[in-house]
Amino acid sequence: MAELSVEHLSLRFGGLTVLNDVSFAVQPGELIALIGPNGAGKTSVFNCISGIYRGDGVISFRGQSLIGRSPHEVAQRGVARTFQHGELFAEMSVVDNLLTGRHARIATNPIAEMLFLPSVRRAEVAHRAAVERIIDLVELERYRHARVGSLPFGVQKVVGFARALASEPSVILMDEPSAGLNREEREDLARFILRIKHELNMTIIWIEHDMQMIADLADRIHVLDYGRTIAEGAPDAVLNDPAVLAAYVGTASA
Ligand SMILES: Nc1ncnc2c1ncn2[C@@H]1O[C@H](COP(=O)(O)OP(=O)(O)O)[C@@H](O)[C@H]1O
Ligand SMILES: [Mg+2]
Repeated sequence: MAELSVEHLSLRFGGLTVLNDVSFAVQPGELIALIGPNGAGKTSVFNCISGIYRGDGVISFRGQSLIGRSPHEVAQRGVARTFQHGELFAEMSVVDNLLTGRHARIATNPIAEMLFLPSVRRAEVAHRAAVERIIDLVELERYRHARVGSLPFGVQKVVGFARALASEPSVILMDEPSAGLNREEREDLARFILRIKHELNMTIIWIEHDMQMIADLADRIHVLDYGRTIAEGAPDAVLNDPAVLAAYVGTASA
């Protein structure tokens, strides 16, 4: 069974058709890249999956429909996402930001928390241990207690990525994680992406403009243009497809 599938997804805003009959499926542990020129509808696909936009069509996670679920419910089921623009708390430390990222997992009992019962203490210890594992995985050890707002942009992007991982999702949706990163930071990011794929068996849908990273890392590519699928398949074939090349011609986004 597909880990996540999107079938015949369409989305309109007033007279504007943003998505038109988009279908794709991701298998467990697979990394697919979602590409296309600016305005193609890539982020809107993520917004539909994560319950921010309500499209027409079928979206399923492990065979169960996600349509009509709130963003919180989608996250709780194990579908996390990173944002194009940080969702971090600048005044808080890296560790505390990652702890907030675990909220999707945390079952709260206010009275037990107020009394700080042993069960609450155990949960707290477990949350911290999980956060430390993520910190090791993406090599944030030396920034653990730094205020996020004081960190370089590239490190903040890694913290955003780590925060999405902190909820221990089974699917992660990454929206242009490499935007604004330099060559070295992109190489680090590529390493972390491979690590979560191979060590955590994460299923990944990745919106990306860096064609070299996609060619190197993606198992498959799905291409949107004006809200429609124009190509899908293996990276080599898709990146050399005349229809894909044509879609990028005359746009500054490639
Ligand atoms: N909430 C919205 N209201 C109106 N139009 C929207 C909204 N969200 C996205 N769009 C439009 O949908 C199109 C696709 O946007 P988006 O999904 O952000 O594209 P991409 O991520 O591929 O650059 C754009 O024309 C955008 O203006
Ligand atoms: Mg976008």
